Amino acid sequence: VDFSNFRSQSGGIITMDPGYKNTGSCKSAITYLDGEEGVLMYRGYPIEQLAEKSNFEEVMYLLLKGELPTAEQAKKFKSDINEYDVVSEDVTKILNAFPSTAHPMGVLSTLTSSLTAFNPKAVNVKSEEDMYRAAVTLLAKFPVLAAWTLRKMKGLPLNYSDSKLGYVENFYSMMFKQPNKELEMDPIVIDALDKLLILHADHEQNCSTSTVRLVGSAHTGLFASISSGVSALWGPLHGGANQEVVEMLERIQEDGGNVQKWVDKAKDKNDDFRLMGFGHRVYKNFDPRARIIKKAADQILDKLGIQDPALDIAKKLEQAALEDEYFVSRKLYPNVDFYSGIIYKALGIPTEMFTVMFAVGRLPGWISQWIEMRTNNEPIGRPRQIYVGEPKRDYIDLGNR
Ligand code: ACO
Repeated sequence: VDFSNFRSQSGGIITMDPGYKNTGSCKSAITYLDGEEGVLMYRGYPIEQLAEKSNFEEVMYLLLKGELPTAEQAKKFKSDINEYDVVSEDVTKILNAFPSTAHPMGVLSTLTSSLTAFNPKAVNVKSEEDMYRAAVTLLAKFPVLAAWTLRKMKGLPLNYSDSKLGYVENFYSMMFKQPNKELEMDPIVIDALDKLLILHADHEQNCSTSTVRLVGSAHTGLFASISSGVSALWGPLHGGANQEVVEMLERIQEDGGNVQKWVDKAKDKNDDFRLMGFGHRVYKNFDPRARIIKKAADQILDKLGIQDPALDIAKKLEQAALEDEYFVSRKLYPNVDFYSGIIYKALGIPTEMFTVMFAVGRLPGWISQWIEMRTNNEPIGRPRQIYVGEPKRDYIDLGNR
């Protein structure tokens, strides 16, 4: 290795860490994660306790403000969100320009970015109060946009926010309410959705969150930064895995349900196929969210009286992988996405919307991380590289090449 390439212009040494596997990019007081012990805490509160006892509205406040709200603070927070829950009709023109075959994540990213144009006051934010206003503006409008991506895909009329409903109920209602009809909301469904959103609400410096912080470090506005986070989350190695998992389970089922065959396929280094929903950059023992979700999947399907062969296949697949030397030696365990898709499916949410659901859950995390980055006055993010291209050479005129 020629180490002269690793010299930085400031006299130090450039560390090479593709994928930033061992690089810390910031100090953060939001989420604690111990991958060896399978610990995840938001602002010091264990994820297990939050999933069991809290609700998504409270968790959004906790991530943003650092403390659980009092009853009064929770009420004020909800009314602040309601103040901004109208999306400009002009945004629907952008939505309508998409074909109904467009992936909802692509549509969501575009619409989120477009909010910048319609809410100029929320763009150049500096004070704590301005940042809070920008945060509640986005918390209010994002579920509207998310629900609209579904309505567009299905060719259905758009629904609008109803401030009388709770945050999660309102989102659910905007997705599924039919014109001039009451929507019956099963508390089991709303609770399950609430739990899933809590589990996805933050996860320290993952790919999409790092993207939000990196884009925001150039002092790009909140909405444009979050739009980039949506694009990062879309990828199948990140949030897009929840859609891929269910599609994979359905393929295994159609193929006769022989899970060992698919485990072997995932091990084959000549085959690109990976067991979707397996493995994690940080969790090397278990993903605490996957444990909670696995239990919840059983309970929810049971309560709703749904028998989904995909759940049986998922369990068999997990068992076969956990007994396999390849997966054991590489510490590959089910991640949060392995069982979440099965629950979304049971709740009647179309497969293409799974990653959008994840995005709605992750939104308060992204926003809190963006605010923390700006409040800490972090420098612009700008990694270095090791140049391995051609040495200096002279330009050759077109006729002489
Ligand atoms: N199936 C088969 N082999 C796998 C899998 C898998 N799902 N995941 C990792 N491996 C293997 C790799 O081939 C590699 O093997 P090698 O040492 O023989 O080369 C080894 O395990 C390490 O894998 P890396 O890709 O280096 O691990 P990394 O930390 O970079 O990737 C990731 C983590 C992206 C999550 C990976 O495990 C993966 O692709 N999983 C499937 C997609 C998925 O479920 N993503 C969701 C992640 S959670 C989330 O974002 C919400």
